[in-house]
Order: sequence, then structure tokens, then C-alpha cells
Amino acid sequence: MDSPLRRKPGTTNLFFLVLLLSTNLLTLFLSSTFYSTSCSFSPPKAPTTTTVSATSDNLPPEFLAFTSGQLLPFGVNRNFDSDTLYPPVGRSCTLFPDELRRFMSYKVNGSCPDDELLAQKLLLKGCEPLPRRRCRPSASPISVEPTPLPTSLWTTPSNSSVVWTAYTCKDYECLINRRNQKGFDDCKDCFDLQGREKNRWMSTKSNGIDFSIDDVLATKPPGTIRIGLDIGGGVATFAVRMRERNITIVTTSMNLNGPFNNFIAARGVVPLYISISQRLPFFDNTLDIVHSMHVLSNWIPTTLLHFLLFDIYRVLRPGGLFWLDHFFCLGDEFKQVYGPLIESVGFKKVKWVEGKKLDRGPQRKEMYLSALLEKPLKNSWGL
Ligand SMILES: *[C@@H]1O[C@H](CO)[C@@H](O)[C@H](O)[C@H]1NC(C)=O
Ligand SMILES: *[C@@H]1O[C@H](CO)[C@@H](O)[C@H](O)[C@H]1NC(C)=O
Ligand SMILES: *[C@@H]1O[C@H](CO)[C@@H](O)[C@H](O)[C@H]1NC(C)=O
Repeated sequence: MDSPLRRKPGTTNLFFLVLLLSTNLLTLFLSSTFYSTSCSFSPPKAPTTTTVSATSDNLPPEFLAFTSGQLLPFGVNRNFDSDTLYPPVGRSCTLFPDELRRFMSYKVNGSCPDDELLAQKLLLKGCEPLPRRRCRPSASPISVEPTPLPTSLWTTPSNSSVVWTAYTCKDYECLINRRNQKGFDDCKDCFDLQGREKNRWMSTKSNGIDFSIDDVLATKPPGTIRIGLDIGGGVATFAVRMRERNITIVTTSMNLNGPFNNFIAARGVVPLYISISQRLPFFDNTLDIVHSMHVLSNWIPTTLLHFLLFDIYRVLRPGGLFWLDHFFCLGDEFKQVYGPLIESVGFKKVKWVEGKKLDRGPQRKEMYLSALLEKPLKNSWGL
């Protein structure tokens, strides 16, 4: 994708349209050509789980065992409209045969290799979902029962609930103190539950872009926001704060140089290990609220972001809220691409606040958008 900054101003809508059209056509072209070549990976019509296709010697046997068509024991199933089931993996898995072979090399019914980093890289590149494996994941040799609720919500869990191999830090102490160290990436102060986490979303700040949870909930009738999703939710403090208000939130997170998923689970709320590329695993028109802070921003390829915004729209129920919290990009990008893109999806604006992002200096001309968007109760375009 070319940088939106290279486009000249004044032709916003045309460029936006061309961008969408060209990338969509490209995607269509790529996917149709890929699908036609991928037929050569097809397993025999009626394989058993141990058969390895002769044309697929590039792919690991356990991968083929999992993905090969498997006959349903009772024949044609009318719900499937088929007698065969093809267990899914990300279409891109086969683009990375070396990593895939390493990932799928293990002893069936044995221990899985300690390969969290490999698995996550493969997943982030697009091999999502990863194939299932027939082995037991590595686990800490001594595990302890979790801290009971409600204490667990604000307690640093035991170090022993985590296999630390994939991370620079080898215990939670180190993760808590890492804000003073060099060489660490995202969410530096997230693991410190007594620090900034404690105050997030608790009050509306004068800068206008920090909304409070209570102000957001007050825009809807009491009790009608009950279930939802936080995309890229760090250590799930949003879900914890919502739980304290009897609202159930599932939090998606990657384990980027820290055991975010373990930490979220140890607090007693639900982590969901999917990237921003994956279709949201919820049915249409079901969730009351979707929140996302920081992660939805200009690092995401524009076409992917467009699909993602439509997916959020899809899973929200009519009247549901999308709280886009601290979306950031350059000011020019916002005018030319992201502003029109976000507005084009069909949400109603409840709040829309643009502010300067100054943490990397004013010369970078970065900005934030915090918006509270509502899926209309009534479809404005009919059925
Ligand atoms: C599978 O592994 C378990 C645990 O090591 C063992 O008890 C069991 O006998 C194994 N089963 C087979 C079929 O090898
Ligand atoms: C985790 O490990 C660190 C250092 O190894 C230790 O100081 C800390 O008390 C441990 N925390 C827990 C909750 O076990
Ligand atoms: C949450 O639910 C419990 C049990 O129904 C109730 O006692 C409590 O008051 C509720 N808390 C809030 C903040 O609504």
C-alpha cells in the first residue's frame, strides 16, 4: 500500500475510491490465482488421517493430517451440504513452508516444542488460525491455583503461571519495572496495576480525547450495555473496569514481548488470542459495545482497516456502541484517508474529538481521534 501522504490534497474522494478499488481488485486477483494453484495441495478425496498426499511433500504430515478433507462418519450432513469436512487454517500458512514445518514438527501425543514466538510470528503474518496440533503445550513445572476473585482483578499473578521463554523479562517484577529500561516495546507500563492502569477511563479529562467509562455508558439506557469486545486491550483493564459494572468484555491481545494473555486470564477476565486480521468470532448484530484503544491506527494497511471497521459494524447490534479510543495518524492522513474512511461505514457520531498527539514532538504533526459511534437502531439503507 502506498503512503496516503504522497497523494495530493483536493482529490480526496477520488483517491479514496481508487485506492479501495485497486486494492480490492488486487486482492481478488491474488486470491483467485492463489486458490487455483493451491489445488495441487488438495488431499485425496477420501483420506484417512495418516495418509500423506504424494503431491504435497513440501508440507508437514501433521499439517496435511489436520487440513485434509475428512469424511463425516454419518455421511452427508444437510447443514454442511457435504459429507466432508475440511478443518480450517489461515490461507497464508502454506506461504511459509519452513516455519510451518517447524511448527508442525512434534511427536503426536507428546509435548509440543516451546515455540510460542515462532507460532505468534506465523500467526501475525497471516497463518491464522494456526493449525491445531496433537501435542501438549509447554507449561511451567510448578503451577499454582489462581488468586480468587475479586482480588485477582487487581493483583499481580504468580510468575509460575507463565512459560517465560519467549520474553525478554523472566518474571512480572521485570515487566512492571521495564518502563525505566531501554529496548522494550509496546505497553511499557501496562503490567503495573498500581500505576497508570489504575486510573484509565475513570474520569473524563479536559483534553477531550479521554472519555470515561461512566460517561460513555450514560449515553445509553441503564443496563443496556451488557456484553462486548475490547480489541487489542493490553492487560484488559477495560474489561476489569466493565466487570466492576457487571458488563462482560472479551479482550483480544497478542503476547508481544510479554505474557498478556496469561495476565488477562489470571486477572479473571477472558483473553482472546486473535490478531486484528482475523474475522471477529461473533455473530452479526450481537454485541452491545466494541472498544479499541491505540491499536487501530495508521500502522494497519488501509484496506485491512476498512474490512475491520465493517466487521465491527457487523458484530455490533443496532444501537450498539463503537468506542474508537485514541486512533492516531498524521493530520494530513486523517483529512485525506482515515476521517472519510471512518465516516463512510455508517455509524452515527455520538462524540467525535480530534486532538494533537505530542508525545513524539509537535514537528511530527500527529493527531488523535477519540470517537463514540453508534450503529443506527434502524438501517438507513433498508434491507
Ligand atoms: C499418550 O500420552 C499419554 C501421556 O503421556 C500416555 O499416558 C498414553 O499412553 C499415550 N497414548 C498413546 C496411544 O500413546
Ligand atoms: C516473581 O519473581 C520475582 C523475582 O524472581 C519475585 O521478586 C516476585 O516476588 C515474584 N512474584 C510472585 C507474585 O511470585
Ligand atoms: C453487579 O451485580 C451484583 C449482583 O447482581 C450486584 O449486587 C451489584 O450491585 C452490581 N453492581 C453494579 C455496579 O451494578
